[in-house]
Amino acid sequence: MRILSGIQPSGKLHIGNYFGMMRPAIELQQRGEAFLFIADYHALTTVADAAAMREGVRDVALDFLACGLDPERTAFYRQSDLPEVHELAWLLSNVTPLALLERCHSYKDKLAKGIAPNHGLLAYPVLMAADILIVQANVVPVGRDQKQHVEVTRDLAIKFNLAFGDTFTIPEPQIADAVAVVPGLDGQKMSKSYGNTIEIFGDPKATRKRIMSIVTDSKTLEEPKDPDTCNVFRLYKLFATEAQQADLAARYRAGGMGYGTAKKELADLLETFFAPMRAKRAELAANPRYVEDVLQAGAAKARAVARETLQRARRAVGLE
Ligand code: ADP
Ligand code: TRP
Repeated sequence: MRILSGIQPSGKLHIGNYFGMMRPAIELQQRGEAFLFIADYHALTTVADAAAMREGVRDVALDFLACGLDPERTAFYRQSDLPEVHELAWLLSNVTPLALLERCHSYKDKLAKGIAPNHGLLAYPVLMAADILIVQANVVPVGRDQKQHVEVTRDLAIKFNLAFGDTFTIPEPQIADAVAVVPGLDGQKMSKSYGNTIEIFGDPKATRKRIMSIVTDSKTLEEPKDPDTCNVFRLYKLFATEAQQADLAARYRAGGMGYGTAKKELADLLETFFAPMRAKRAELAANPRYVEDVLQAGAAKARAVARETLQRARRAVGLE
């Protein structure tokens, strides 16, 4: 089974990204032939600053490798190192009804926000279809917001196969609903856009300070507290063993413990949890050659598959 996913290089990762997207993406390497790429071509639709683009790509590469992505098992590459994707996107463009693209939620959301649409924004799903079809992926794990784009991919593959003969595998989206939403400092979904995040590789002192600012109710130290409705406890659960969770829950219910104590314990656990990854990241950051080699090797692996698919598609339409 071939599994493929892509991630946009967009800013510093937080623990919501880690539990909701990175860890599941890294686990794919257990389940089949995995392809994971940094969607820099896609990021051009929103990032218009060369230095920010380079830094974003470098950060995502370091973050994933530090958090356990095994480049021997997952082909990890930069989208732009696979130029075959563009040729395929063009072939797909000619079986893409304009109305299909105009119906896409993410496109319509951007229009609604007043963003003046360019061709890149409209064609975004065609490029995404090319990413997926070029490796003949069977399964595409994505967040709910990307489900429609995978459905567009299926539509285009079916249309192309009907028009030109069987060429592409029809992929299935796999939506990560099982992953609970990680709450932010204020209890809403943790998100860059709400400014309520805890970064995974942030400055340790600043991270502790942010944890101490998690919003709680105003119960006094003596009062018994309810772990099930507390943001601190919800975050604590992500890092703690069953025994640690039971122990802290009992102390909540008994009273006599303030939220400050729970926050401090959360900060300690979080620091310990990410410490080995932080060390690995520092080691990798000192060795940019290694990271570049990994991406190049991943691209070579993906390109071998991509060339084969592209040749098949070129033959199907009569370019060869
Ligand atoms: P943000 O909301 O911070 O801008 P993105 O929308 O870039 O984050 O999300 C990138 C990935 O991380 C997506 O796959 C998304 O599902 C996941 N993710 C983001 N925030 C959370 C969260 N609070 N809990 C679980 N998963 C999350
Ligand atoms: N559009 C995806 C996102 O913003 C990233 C992406 C690009 C992708 N190409 C892909 C995801 C192909 C899965 C498969 O999250």
